[in-house]
Amino acid sequence: MWVPQYSGQAQPVYLMIADALERDILAARLEPGDRLPTLKELAETLKVTPGTIGRAYDEAGKRGLVVGEVGRGTFVLHKRVTQPASQVLKSPASKAETGHIDLSIIKPNDSGMTEWLRGSIVELAQSPGLGRILDYTTDGGHAVHKEAGAAWVQRSLPQASWQQIVITAGAQHGLLVAISSLSQANQVILCEEYCYPGIISLAHSLGRRLKGVQVDEFGLVPESLRQMCIEHRPALLICVTTHQNPTNSIMPAERRAEIAQIAREFDLFIIDDDIYGFLETRNVHQPLSAYAPERSVYLTSLSKSILPALRIGYLYAPAETLSRLSSMVRSSVWMPSPLMAQLASNLINSGMGAELVKVQQDEAAQRQQMALEILGGYDIRSQPNSFHIWLELPQPWTSDEFANLARANGVTVVSGSQFLAQRTGSTRGVRIALMTPTREELAFALTKLASLLAAPEPRLFY
Ligand SMILES: Cc1ncc(COP(=O)(O)O)c(C=O)c1O
Repeated sequence: MWVPQYSGQAQPVYLMIADALERDILAARLEPGDRLPTLKELAETLKVTPGTIGRAYDEAGKRGLVVGEVGRGTFVLHKRVTQPASQVLKSPASKAETGHIDLSIIKPNDSGMTEWLRGSIVELAQSPGLGRILDYTTDGGHAVHKEAGAAWVQRSLPQASWQQIVITAGAQHGLLVAISSLSQANQVILCEEYCYPGIISLAHSLGRRLKGVQVDEFGLVPESLRQMCIEHRPALLICVTTHQNPTNSIMPAERRAEIAQIAREFDLFIIDDDIYGFLETRNVHQPLSAYAPERSVYLTSLSKSILPALRIGYLYAPAETLSRLSSMVRSSVWMPSPLMAQLASNLINSGMGAELVKVQQDEAAQRQQMALEILGGYDIRSQPNSFHIWLELPQPWTSDEFANLARANGVTVVSGSQFLAQRTGSTRGVRIALMTPTREELAFALTKLASLLAAPEPRLFY
């Protein structure tokens, strides 16, 4: 019978038992499939209560070390070859540890996500078909993974067929694949004048000449787009029409139709980056690509809806572009991980993905409300379910000045200057991401920002 070795009183007994279990698995003293003693057996041996053993096994279950089977007992799940998760996966430093609140990253709120996903990961590890997804794939991935991707994309584009899905390693990779397949070095490509910095760095590393099209509170301004098309004859437009990063605009339907019309007129290809589209509950707009499907690549990923570490995204593209896109996937990463694509497919097919979306939408709504209550007196652009807000600073602030001061006061926001497509010009905006900290920390940070804004003479705070 397995008996844990532990000593000292530094931690509760159940944790010492769980740690001993972890050590013994690491050291191969316990093998996958080994049955652990019953609660009663071990409790009697160690002279503790069965409840303590139960807690130890629960803790080991949470660490993914053992699994309990009703009526059969508790079994060792698999051999740990790395350091214990408790050491590797330190949770991100909280405000309590760093004295800092980070509002600089747009990502889903944890909302117990780790616990939600633990079961799916264990299920994947134990699934009889595991062997089939451990090999190289051809044709850009397994058909079943593309089918799941199509089901996800159909939430926005009901007509999407799985044969036109390309699986990518996240949206950043999707952008790389689409930009490099649909334009050439030295060509002009367009995006919003304030855009996601990943687009700027990609354009530079791929040798594309990136130009920013003017935006207003409804996104890209069609007249400016037309002008840029006349002047530069661009190959491509990258556009984020819903919860634009960073300005948080939503483009109305008429403007989407107008942009599609201009794209036809100037033979422009569109990359419709809809990574935040899933957050919209109002469901009033079709994605931009629906207005010009013959010349658009629809792009999304699961990074914001489920979790960034999945690194799974989907492109939905016209049939004649598929071989170019797939070939670029092969050149860049050969294939996105089929293991992750399987996990993503399981989450989508089981409906858990949709449930997680709902969790994020609700959490975002609460946080947007909080932002409106605290910063509502300022010029902020908020959407009921988006992950961030855009704040236009009052005089005399510049965006760098405000971001620096906020940092000096323990809150990180991103200065609008980081988003300038052409790295020139000035901005009075800052982007504030709402989902990372706890709600209490968020309230504290937003109140701190409000107090900085209210100060009559900004520079006095330095
Ligand atoms: C507009 C936009 N596109 C693409 C990405 C990249 O997403 P992923 O993490 O899936 O690569 C981001 C990430 O913040 C984004 O804001």
